[in-house]
Amino acid sequence: MTPPLRLGVNIDHVATLRNARGGFYPDPVRAAHEAIMAGADGITAHLREDRRHIRDEDIERLKRQILTPLNFEMATTDEMVAIARRVRPHAACLVPEKREERTTEGGLDLRSSPERLAAVIGALNEAGIRVSLFVEPDPEVMSAAHRLGAPVVELHTGAYAEAFIAGDEPRTTTELDRIRRAAAHGASLGLEIHAGHGLTEENVGRVAAIPEIVELNIGHALIGAAVFVGLADAIRAMRAAMERGRGSAAAS
Ligand code: PXP
Repeated sequence: MTPPLRLGVNIDHVATLRNARGGFYPDPVRAAHEAIMAGADGITAHLREDRRHIRDEDIERLKRQILTPLNFEMATTDEMVAIARRVRPHAACLVPEKREERTTEGGLDLRSSPERLAAVIGALNEAGIRVSLFVEPDPEVMSAAHRLGAPVVELHTGAYAEAFIAGDEPRTTTELDRIRRAAAHGASLGLEIHAGHGLTEENVGRVAAIPEIVELNIGHALIGAAVFVGLADAIRAMRAAMERGRGSAAAS
């Protein structure tokens, strides 16, 4: 039987909007409360080194005020590890972070400094934080993540999303196949499989249909739609699209 699919709502871009003017409005913590009321299973926030959207106090307030699992997206720096160990979110998703990028453009490179990564994973595991690695959808990368001791991987769906937006069906299918193969291999190793990046109401269905994937983390499309229809309706529409996709998997 296909397991249920959770939705983690990434609230970073509520903070982007707030920071455009400074001050306190709109409040990402209010967005978290509204997302939970609309059915989010988790809240994700990325504290970037340059604090371009989420700020330190947002993370503290989220941890204090919400009971729903908080997924703290973070680079593998000493500063972020110290913050995670102090705040103790439910989960931490390790992402590569470059100052100049607009968003997280690729998955973590698990080969370049495995000792460092294993130490970060160990330090977070020890603090009771469930670690996921944001990685490219590739079976070899799944094996490497497993060797490093991470219980969860989040598959980067950016290449699939880009191919979909470009209307390039052959490339969309190829990228989707990569995600499918990685998910199947990762799950066979005992990894919990999440996915995210660039997912929209239009493209989420085919990813939701992959039975090994148990959580999707979605931000930009939800906050973008919220400008027009409100966050609750945006989340309900995304959930419905996810469920249609999941249902099609169960039926086939
Ligand atoms: N998952 C991870 C690890 C991310 O870095 C991001 C982007 O912040 C997302 C999911 C959500 O991507 P999007 O905002 O494109 O939905």
